Amino acid sequence: MHDFLKRLPKVELHLHIEGSLEPELMFALAERNGVALPYASVEEARAAYDFTDLQSFLDLYYQGMSVLRTAEDFHDLAMDYFRRAHAEGVVHVEMHFDPQAHRVRGIELPVVMEGLSLARRHAERELGLSTALIMAFLRDRDASEAMAVLEEAAPYWEMLDAVGLDSAERGNPPSKFTEVFERAARLGIPRVAHAGEEGPPEYIREALDLLDVCRIDHGVRCLEDPELVARLRDEGVVLTVCPLSNVRLKVVERLEAHPLPQLLEAGLRITLNSDDPAYFGGGMLDNYLACQRAFGWDEATFIQLAGTAIEAAFVSDQRRLALRRRLADSV
Ligand code: ADE
Ligand code: ZN
Repeated sequence: MHDFLKRLPKVELHLHIEGSLEPELMFALAERNGVALPYASVEEARAAYDFTDLQSFLDLYYQGMSVLRTAEDFHDLAMDYFRRAHAEGVVHVEMHFDPQAHRVRGIELPVVMEGLSLARRHAERELGLSTALIMAFLRDRDASEAMAVLEEAAPYWEMLDAVGLDSAERGNPPSKFTEVFERAARLGIPRVAHAGEEGPPEYIREALDLLDVCRIDHGVRCLEDPELVARLRDEGVVLTVCPLSNVRLKVVERLEAHPLPQLLEAGLRITLNSDDPAYFGGGMLDNYLACQRAFGWDEATFIQLAGTAIEAAFVSDQRRLALRRRLADSV
């Protein structure tokens, strides 16, 4: 099964590129940029990744990214991840990035875009890995700031495959960002949002009704609301589920207790993703393998999950056909 899951052409729809920053690279960039870290060693950093909830993770996540200062840093961050993903059999990556988390540190959007854009070109050329870019708004900051970032991104609108919504969910409902997402819709930019990770099912409804999203990131709490589950199924809304993330952030107690089997049983369109692989103990292959161990799924189930991700990806018709063919050839 390991060989099968490694070979399976996996498409990742939910990754925060800043959450792919492994402690080794964090230390290298800290040295390069003269940034002080609160850890004495790589091992000490990893040992600190013991989270009680989403906020306890976000505190270290925002602190970790303080080493990212130049376009070269963002390039190296992304290429480091793309190489690892490629080695695990990932063929397409859609990465969220958090411009506001950099802007508050004095790192402006053009620096981030230059580094990530270069890395995307290198990934395509050197690894044959296609990528998409999702500019995420931090929901625990003002909507006016999100709107300002969207306007500031005007030179890059055509490079954005979608806008997203992340960071601390509780108390920050999608409704706070209705205008921002309406503006993105008028610009023709697709929309996704984190909802129903720690927040209630109502946030998933709001994301659909008010933000007009085409995918829900996480969404696992939908099961508390049977009517919502029926709607998600009928409308074919894709959920980007992150199994190891949910365990590490205590959304579920352990993977065996994760609602993934019920979500599939309910007929929902489910995908598996890594979220913040450097912080949650594994990339795409680890997430697939962990699910195999926890749920005993057969090959057909993984082919279905990988296939759903291909259908829901922000890619051209031509690329989607190529990905479908890769999947068919691999089994
Ligand atoms: N930012 C990075 N990872 C996140 C997650 N799992 N949920 C919300 N915001 C995030
Ligand atoms: Zn996420």
